[in-house]
Amino acid sequence: MKKLFLIVMVLFSSTLFAQNVNLAPTPPMGWNSWNFFEGEVSEQILKEMADAMVNNGMKDAGYQYIVIDDYWVGGRDNKNRLFPDKKRFPNGIKPVADYVHSKGLKIGIYSDAASYTCGGQTASYGFEELDAKTFAEWGIDYLKYDYCNAPEDVETAFVRYKKMGDALKNSGRDIVYSICEWGVRKPWLWAKAAGGHLWRTTYDSRDCWIANQEESWITGGILELFDLQENIAQYSGPNGWNDPDMLMVGLFGKGKSSSWEGRFKGCSQTEYNTHFALWCMLAAPLMVNSDLRNIDPINLALLTNKHLIAIDQDPLGKQAVTIFKDDKMQILKKELSGGEYAVCVFNRSENVQTYNYDIRNDFEIWYSATIFQVWNEKTISKTSVSGTLESHGCEVFVIRKKK
Ligand code: GLA
Repeated sequence: MKKLFLIVMVLFSSTLFAQNVNLAPTPPMGWNSWNFFEGEVSEQILKEMADAMVNNGMKDAGYQYIVIDDYWVGGRDNKNRLFPDKKRFPNGIKPVADYVHSKGLKIGIYSDAASYTCGGQTASYGFEELDAKTFAEWGIDYLKYDYCNAPEDVETAFVRYKKMGDALKNSGRDIVYSICEWGVRKPWLWAKAAGGHLWRTTYDSRDCWIANQEESWITGGILELFDLQENIAQYSGPNGWNDPDMLMVGLFGKGKSSSWEGRFKGCSQTEYNTHFALWCMLAAPLMVNSDLRNIDPINLALLTNKHLIAIDQDPLGKQAVTIFKDDKMQILKKELSGGEYAVCVFNRSENVQTYNYDIRNDFEIWYSATIFQVWNEKTISKTSVSGTLESHGCEVFVIRKKK
């Protein structure tokens, strides 16, 4: 009898906790509508993005999610169920989800832990269970949950995020939960307990290297957001990722929000290369924002670079840590599975820098290692590497055991 009780409890608890447990073993990869389209997101655009992701090789490279950000909501019907904007989503959300699924991809949606989203649209506070069920019925696989118009204290944030986290777990569908309170309340300490699989660690990214804004909520360029990831590496890992915000790669100032009404004009190609390399070193979620229908070949090749993606998606799920830093250069080290390491030597300065890096200082495996250079795909059998880096440029190496 006791045994039966135990078996029933185990079965019960495993059904209770079966959902939403292992949904993000590696950092989620996808495309998000926000920075490029803002309020223009529509059924048509989402379908075209899904087509593009399949046709341009991004799906094969590992990208999976098509995420609808703010400005999709029309309102609540007489049963309080959310419905989308009727002009831009004339057939509802479910047909869009079905289409995205038919392409072998997954779909994400957006709401907010208050009555209104950042864009002033109807949001989920007080309707968490109903909305989670609605999302599940539509076939949603991922929810980004924002925090505009909500109280500032961390206690309330936790309660509100957990409410939606529990609702998603009980929704009957596996839904990845992306917490977006911009790192203000140190979500790396509590977001996982609220059910989150990833949590933003910064305000919004802008399409520039350094934004240098007095108003902190206008927030940062690539380098500023990257620097905020220091000292929180230990909180990131499988099914609970630090999220330093989306990828500006390839936007060249054309995004709406990311350019902040033309204030930020975009980055150089070297800076986009470094941005992507750094985000992969950080084991960051990789959410592309560029218009996939027209992305240029250089940035498409960058976003599908299989060596960098392998570093990001390494199953050990470690975020890189800094092993050297002065005002010119920084060296990061990311432990990979199988006893290997990725190393990124990065020129923070405004001038060309040369480097000569001896791996024997930092790696015990040096005596039996080879060094794979990611950009030029060359393997060298030496114990040091040297080179020249353009301003804001970087070199990435994988230190492998000799076979
Ligand atoms: C906040 C989020 C952004 C985006 C917008 C939408 O600013 O941080 O990523 O979702 O809201 O309004």
